[in-house]
Amino acid sequence: MSVLRRKPMAAHDHGGSKLHAVLGPWDLTLLGIGCIIGAGVFVLTGITAANHAGPAVALSFAVAAVACTLTALAYAELAAMMGGAGGAYGYSYAAFGELPAWLVGWNLLLEYALAVSAVAVGWAGYVANALAGFGIAIPSELMASPAEGGLVNLPAVLIIVALGALLAVGVQGSARFNALIVVIKVTVIAIFLVAAFRKIDVANWQPFMPFGWAGVMSGAALIFFAYIGFDAVATAAEEARNPQRDMPIGIIASLVICTILYVLVGLGLTGLAHYSTLNVPSPVAAALLHAGYTWAAVVVAVGAIAGLTSVMLVCYYAQTRVLFAMARDRLIPENMAKLHERRRTPTRLIVISGIVMAAVAGFVPLEQIAQLVNIGTLSAFAFVCAGVLMLRYTHPEFERPFRTPGAPITTTLGVLACLYLMINLPAATWIRFVVWIGVGLLVYFGYSHRASNLSRTGVATP
Ligand code: ALA
Repeated sequence: MSVLRRKPMAAHDHGGSKLHAVLGPWDLTLLGIGCIIGAGVFVLTGITAANHAGPAVALSFAVAAVACTLTALAYAELAAMMGGAGGAYGYSYAAFGELPAWLVGWNLLLEYALAVSAVAVGWAGYVANALAGFGIAIPSELMASPAEGGLVNLPAVLIIVALGALLAVGVQGSARFNALIVVIKVTVIAIFLVAAFRKIDVANWQPFMPFGWAGVMSGAALIFFAYIGFDAVATAAEEARNPQRDMPIGIIASLVICTILYVLVGLGLTGLAHYSTLNVPSPVAAALLHAGYTWAAVVVAVGAIAGLTSVMLVCYYAQTRVLFAMARDRLIPENMAKLHERRRTPTRLIVISGIVMAAVAGFVPLEQIAQLVNIGTLSAFAFVCAGVLMLRYTHPEFERPFRTPGAPITTTLGVLACLYLMINLPAATWIRFVVWIGVGLLVYFGYSHRASNLSRTGVATP
């Protein structure tokens, strides 16, 4: 039986290292949508339809949504009960102890940091295209990493620096900026849906499942990337005004809204253009152009640039909050978690994360990155679902403002659904994942295990 070394939120007080509680239910829902809608739907939908699922990409979206919904219910229970800035890291700590929590935190870094770097590279491509439309050309050596024959991907570096500055200013300003962007990208998706459903050619939906069920499932494992982000809401628990009530609302509402939009986009996209034509960097624009909507490229570029910006912003935010929680437990050096006196933001973590993510985005070519991000995220999700079960067994006495309906069956299905999607990822992704875990174990046994609060004082966060 695990020993709870982390108190539930009501009894939680971190004295000098407390973040500002300013976010309401709308802010949290928008934060979720801000992180969810991005490269997944604007870029990967096309690859998934063309190479994996065909028009049944809508089914792939639905399958991935099942795994995410089961996980979201588990997140909602734990976020309302435990709070804390670390999200899945904190819950795993409470449920399973230090080493599993370290591995989950380590995988969340894989999720958030690589997602920011990868999306920054995609963002740079969209921005370069948009600027080219105005006759402004960015030199090609400043648009590619050395391995791709360039010097550095400068726009990708600059956007990360700019977002770091925004996050350092404070979470409230970031939330307002995020809300504006969410409005823009959801409007663009709505425009796409209206345009698409007026010109759908049902012949394009034949055959509906050209690659069979196996294609639908491998498509689901890839398109899962499009849903990543609802979990970032959980990392904002310490900055929520009424987390017991609003965490479940923010997590579940953002996921439901995005699931509906995604299934419709999957149907609209493959109804507008034949799936075999969609393996392009901007499939949404390509499908609209194919159907004769000449204004499409501009509108979609605006939505995609806005969408990718908020995904980076929220993933960057979540990344710093997970590190913040790990530093408070001294699994990484504690002084990294120091907050800015007036703004109460973890400035050092923002700067350090920014440097690492900008270096990756600027100098490393990021192919196949989405699958690596997915496997790290899915492993953390499986721990969250299992954590609900564990804590119900070890700590039935805790107050649970939200209870996962149907547990333990739903949470067990959640674990299985995440594992199933992991199994559907390619072998190369698994190899990279195992290497990442190996490095994580070296860091843990080389440093964190001896430095942690737990080993010094017997409690994680004194
Ligand atoms: N869900 C995010 C995206 O699709 C990571 O860009």
